[in-house]
Amino acid sequence: MLIRPRRNRKSAAIRHLVQETQLSMHYFIYPMFITDGKNLKIEIKSMPNIFRFSLDLLLIEIAECMKLGIEAIALFPHYEEHKKDPLASESWNNQTFYLRAIATIKSQFPTLILMSDVAMDPYSSDGHDGFVQDGKILNDETLEILGRMAVAQAKAGADIVGPSDMMDGRIAYIRKELDNEGFIDVSIMSYSVKYASAFYGPFRDALDSAPKLGDKKTYQMNPANSREALLEAQLDTQEGADFLMVKPAGAYLDIIKILHDNSTLPIAAYQVSGEYAMLKAASQNGWIDYQKCMIESLMAIKRAGASIILSYCAKDFALTLAK
Ligand code: PBG
Repeated sequence: MLIRPRRNRKSAAIRHLVQETQLSMHYFIYPMFITDGKNLKIEIKSMPNIFRFSLDLLLIEIAECMKLGIEAIALFPHYEEHKKDPLASESWNNQTFYLRAIATIKSQFPTLILMSDVAMDPYSSDGHDGFVQDGKILNDETLEILGRMAVAQAKAGADIVGPSDMMDGRIAYIRKELDNEGFIDVSIMSYSVKYASAFYGPFRDALDSAPKLGDKKTYQMNPANSREALLEAQLDTQEGADFLMVKPAGAYLDIIKILHDNSTLPIAAYQVSGEYAMLKAASQNGWIDYQKCMIESLMAIKRAGASIILSYCAKDFALTLAK
């Protein structure tokens, strides 16, 4: 035999030499949940070891994460039902705990990259990402609300705003609003290709944000489609997005690859709550090795072409590296 591929696998050192994909903490964004109050650390039932923190305890957790090498977080707010309304008005109330928390976190940890979430669902009494009227999710009416929300978050100190709503034209609208207010340096990470996925289940437990009526299929993408992903990516690029995201990640590696091959923007991928829950649940049953499967799944996302990974495993991965 002239060619024996096993020669390049004969020792750990040789395997390292020819390893194509590397993971490091530089590429991770750790999604975290915040709730109003004091001294709260509430575990999310369907997401073992992931918590809703009140700000005081979140600050301690962030400090610990940063020591482990986490450089970026995506922060999602949990609101009580009585704070929600059809217009998501709490989202741009500058006294609301989420915006005050962003300001406090940024003043305590100036080097941390803080990405905020731009969508109506945590604040909406309808549990939708857009404004609902007569059972319909209205696009252009929603944009105004998203614009206000993004500006409020930029004012509070967010480094990146993350529109996760899938309304048409939102990147251009938000970019214009941010620039008008002088926030030319605030980046937009667009949830460009976000599928209507059942893998978001545990996240909706975390935020109590499940839609009250219907589903999200008139705005989130059909999991059967891949060419449509290119259209979404092209639009967001033209509209001024700084990063394009694919979500979920594990079941959509082909989509990550398509965007990677067809775009010059950095590609992010979100390993979502359901993906995390599956890894945890199977390992708790003793059916898989959590650490090894976690690394393999993260490696696959990177190999497919994501430069940035949002993952609830970020802290566990950091702990693995620290060992
Ligand atoms: C909603 C939003 C969702 C997630 C992030 N932002 C859920 C949804 O669209 O219903 C899901 C994240 C996850 O499952 O980890 N704006």
